[in-house]
Amino acid sequence: MRSIDQDYLIWHPFSQMKNTNELPLVTEAKGAYLHTSDGRKIFDAISSWWVNLHGHSNPYLAEAIAKQACQLEHVIFAGFTHQPSITLCERLDKHLPEGEWKYFFSDNGSTAVEVALKMAYQFFRVSDKQRKVNLIAFEGSYHGDTFGAMSAAERSVFTEPWDDLFFEASHLPVPTDENIDELERRVESLANDPCIFIYEPLVLGAAGMQFYKADHLERLQTIIRKRQGILIADEVMTGFGRTGKWFASEHTNVKPDMLCLSKGLTGGALPMSLTVCDQRFYNTFLDDKFEKGFLHGHSFTGNPLGCAAALASLDLMEQQETWDGIDRIHACYEEREEELKVTGKLQNIRMIGPILAMDVMEENKGYIHPLRDRLYNAFMKRGQLIRPLGNVIYLLPPYIATAEEIHHSIDVIIEVVQEL
Ligand SMILES: Cc1ncc(COP(=O)(O)O)c(C=O)c1O
Repeated sequence: MRSIDQDYLIWHPFSQMKNTNELPLVTEAKGAYLHTSDGRKIFDAISSWWVNLHGHSNPYLAEAIAKQACQLEHVIFAGFTHQPSITLCERLDKHLPEGEWKYFFSDNGSTAVEVALKMAYQFFRVSDKQRKVNLIAFEGSYHGDTFGAMSAAERSVFTEPWDDLFFEASHLPVPTDENIDELERRVESLANDPCIFIYEPLVLGAAGMQFYKADHLERLQTIIRKRQGILIADEVMTGFGRTGKWFASEHTNVKPDMLCLSKGLTGGALPMSLTVCDQRFYNTFLDDKFEKGFLHGHSFTGNPLGCAAALASLDLMEQQETWDGIDRIHACYEEREEELKVTGKLQNIRMIGPILAMDVMEENKGYIHPLRDRLYNAFMKRGQLIRPLGNVIYLLPPYIATAEEIHHSIDVIIEVVQEL
């Protein structure tokens, strides 16, 4: 543990610092475990905010990063290029849904979304001379913390201080068998104007791992596609195996126009993101005038260390062992589903690929939930980093987690909810 005076200079993310008195001081992390200065070993059941795929301090990734660091650690990406970025895009291209893709680098999930939105708006302005564009997203959706990403996403307690500063978006309920016909009608009407539909395919992560059907997504995608709207798949969380496929977009037959990738892109080792867009966007920005280009970039765009980590992570993702890991984790969830149900404390137990989620039966919903801290602390006390989203408990571990480790996490969940 560290005391608040030890890191009194630091303002931590998503935290009310008034209540942040003592934080575990992580001294090292190996495989699926975090080791703290007070001798604790904590199982990282949420892959440290959904980023880690192959375990912490993975030697294969570490070696690739170290090798790259000794050769070319960084170079300005405007006016220069480098081999790790070229190889990465060529190799990723083989795993994305078939298409003619162009790859734009940035640094995190929010900027990947920001880039996608800026490209999409500029595209309409250049191609159609259109200023009125309907932005469509799901209620509860989360796309990041920059202004564009917040504008697209659901308004919530997290966005309240800036609510009057966002641009407009239409938020649709998450599709269900009951509302899908009505949603289709709403999308038809919104698609009368040029429109952008941004969605987390199949799983709304921050909304509490809310699942919806691929068939429903496909019905909405089909309308937008027919009306020449732009489909942006925010795969920041769902990419790289999190729904049991390389990308969640593979669960439907409609290819998005853009994909936002981050988190697992580097195996969780370094911050980097990609906005992958259809070639037609790229072509629309080609012009003799400089100012007609896409004038966006960051100092660390295309960082070679990030690319080296991503390439090493791709090597591992391409190994059968990784996919066996995903299957192994999922099989444990299936095995324990009935046991979770009979606790009588949990409902809506759901799973896809390596994600398991469940709602603690409670009247109140939402992230700021009285149960949240109680559950988090109870899990931490038992050596498990499980960070409930309100009353939603979920597991999203690195793929190297063993069956024994997954069963132990589930044992702990059962023990903790039974004490409620
Ligand atoms: C679907 C989705 N989009 C975007 C983001 C933002 O990513 P970052 O935290 O890297 O900015 C997240 C983060 O959780 C996410 O889940």
